Amino acid sequence: MKISGFSFDSMSAPSDTLGRPIRDLRVSVTDRCNFRCPYCMPKEAFGPDHPFLASGLLMTLTELVRIVRTFASLGVEKVRLTGGEPLLRSDLPEIIRALKHDLGIADVSLTTNGWLLAGRAAALRAAGLDRINVSVDSLDEATAGRMNGRGFSVGRVLEGIDAAAAAGLPVKINCVLQRGVNDSEIIALCGYFRERGQSLRFIEYMDVGNTNHWSHAQVVPAREIVRRISEAWPLEPVGPAYRGEVSARYRYADGRGEIGVISSVTEPFCRDCNRARLSADGRLFTCLFATTGWDVLGRLRSGADDDALSGFVAGIWRARTDRYSEERAGLLAAGAGREKVEMSYIGG
Ligand SMILES: C[S@@+](CC[C@H](N)C(=O)[O-])C[C@H]1O[C@@H](n2cnc3c(N)ncnc32)[C@H](O)[C@@H]1O
Ligand code: SF4
Repeated sequence: MKISGFSFDSMSAPSDTLGRPIRDLRVSVTDRCNFRCPYCMPKEAFGPDHPFLASGLLMTLTELVRIVRTFASLGVEKVRLTGGEPLLRSDLPEIIRALKHDLGIADVSLTTNGWLLAGRAAALRAAGLDRINVSVDSLDEATAGRMNGRGFSVGRVLEGIDAAAAAGLPVKINCVLQRGVNDSEIIALCGYFRERGQSLRFIEYMDVGNTNHWSHAQVVPAREIVRRISEAWPLEPVGPAYRGEVSARYRYADGRGEIGVISSVTEPFCRDCNRARLSADGRLFTCLFATTGWDVLGRLRSGADDDALSGFVAGIWRARTDRYSEERAGLLAAGAGREKVEMSYIGG
């Protein structure tokens, strides 16, 4: 497949109502997953009767690349492939190859639960993948099995991480902390990944979707995480690598690498959010906590040309007002919680 390049004119790059440009695109390549993490896709809500997208509704490889090209023409420089579980999609290497080599996207990354990674890491790297994030919530088999909802072994995920590193992929680890579930493992997790020179990013448990029974009491605040790690290994803050970086980074004072904390609940960073999200059925969402999306794939399938598609996306972005995380406390206190799309559908 060959899709020709695009021209990016910085004068036409849209900014939203809060002056935020569009730089970063997350693409969900499937809404399905082989795990059932209770904080994301609890078994009760994502059982056999769950209405997953029919295969004909998913963006094909060609459609996905054409839509990403539209975003690239508006200023997107980084694309992260996610889901659901992106490794369930067999044409993932072809998607990566097209984004890297046909579109020339500067930074193509992947977020995965790692279960299928060991056998596929080399092919992903060969296709042009720049870097990978693997989710590891626990090193304890029993806790990991509960947190992936399937009793699956974390040992196999760790083998996948080793395979990714051996294939030459820079690896970061994502860990969602839930108080009373896995927060007793903060130090053990840091110790394991420090040894391997892999950066570990702790993510505050978020109220994504409507099914995970989120409560504030289960959130371990980023400040507490940093304090607890510093008691074992002193940390020094590292400034953001770029505007809009969501992870606050700290380096170990002894020079053994770094950690990150993503404080979207306790210290929201909406004001710098330059991220758009594309669901597996090609809808554009301008916030992780959105209620509705815009049907870009529908426009494409009904014959919109490149100018029409980029005009559609640019118009949506210019009208964007989202800042849910900054408004969360007020909305919840006022009993004004809202229906949100599920993270597995919109792309985490
Ligand atoms: C939705 S997953 C999709 C990619 C892949 N399946 C994985 O787990 O890495 C992307 C990231 O979102 C995180 N995540 C899911 N639900 C979350 C929640 N309620 N709060 C914070 N992070 C969450 C996951 O831990 C994962 O690191
Ligand atoms: S966090 Fe990732 S692995 Fe876990 S259920 Fe959600 S999509 Fe699947």
